[in-house]
Amino acid sequence: MSFPLIRGRRLRTSHALRNLVREHTVTVNDLIYPIFVTHGTGVKEEIGSMPGVYHLSLDLLEEEIREVVSLGLQAILLFGVPHEKDAHGSSAYDPNGIVQEATRRIKAMAPELLVVADTCLCQFTDHGHCGVVHYDEKKNRADVLNDPSLELLTKTAVSQAEAGADIIAPSNMMDGFVHAIRQGLDQAGFEHVPIMSYSVKYASAFYGPFREAAHSAPQFGDRKTYQMDPANAREAMREARGDVAEGADMLMVKPALAYMDIIRSLRNSFDLPIVAYNVSAEYSMVKAAAQQGWIDEKSIVLETMVGFKRAGADMIITYFAKDLARWLK
Ligand code: PBG
Repeated sequence: MSFPLIRGRRLRTSHALRNLVREHTVTVNDLIYPIFVTHGTGVKEEIGSMPGVYHLSLDLLEEEIREVVSLGLQAILLFGVPHEKDAHGSSAYDPNGIVQEATRRIKAMAPELLVVADTCLCQFTDHGHCGVVHYDEKKNRADVLNDPSLELLTKTAVSQAEAGADIIAPSNMMDGFVHAIRQGLDQAGFEHVPIMSYSVKYASAFYGPFREAAHSAPQFGDRKTYQMDPANAREAMREARGDVAEGADMLMVKPALAYMDIIRSLRNSFDLPIVAYNVSAEYSMVKAAAQQGWIDEKSIVLETMVGFKRAGADMIITYFAKDLARWLK
């Protein structure tokens, strides 16, 4: 006869025993910290809905990078907040664009720190969509023109790799985007640069604070034609399978908290590294409740992160990365 309940209890009797049998841990090695860079000098502007997250001008980047490195973080995700926007998002693939310039500076300061470049057009287009769009006024519907968008996206990825980006993270979810970028990178001599694909990206209200931060809310229509319906799980597998076939090196699920089942399904079906993106509203909600004194921020965040690991994530993109690095020390 066996008494599994008692056996389980026995394994939790001491701190050391609990440590010994623990299934998942979060370490600083798992984390990727997003940074927003912008033009100008002396700019350190806090994003209203994301306390502790800033727009930084390039001259203030050094201080930030020094802190990130001293905390033991190994990777950052770079977002550009450009001054110039146009219909084609041309500042995204300008060799002297904000992301390219920031990447060069960061790699000069901290060659070991991995720079993940977010490869998308939405922060760089005046309409705020992730590619070249055709807008149908009657239907208030924005359709992204797939192939012209792919060309610009590939140009953006290559210019980011030329600036020194270590990982290309294309986020616009268009058909064939991983294949197009892989080909573009290979032809330009960047066969060694991996692609972290935003494979499963839902059309989500959890991006709200980010859009404020990146000034990238769509000016008309929405992103539902190229981002996924939160009601669909099998479709997520289809998207991921496509990206794997096209040559993705890492698969991302975004947002993370409301999509733990998707992280788990991807983990079970693919042997590539899985990335969870703990997005802006997931951060803002915790910060707001913590500021009210309603929750214990540190415990909530640590529990959330180990939840992502348990669900099957190998790495986590999170605005809490610096806080976590301090707490985990
Ligand atoms: C799109 C992009 C988005 C986020 C990062 N890049 C989403 C979107 O606006 O559709 C959201 C990240 C977050 O909410 O933290 N390039």
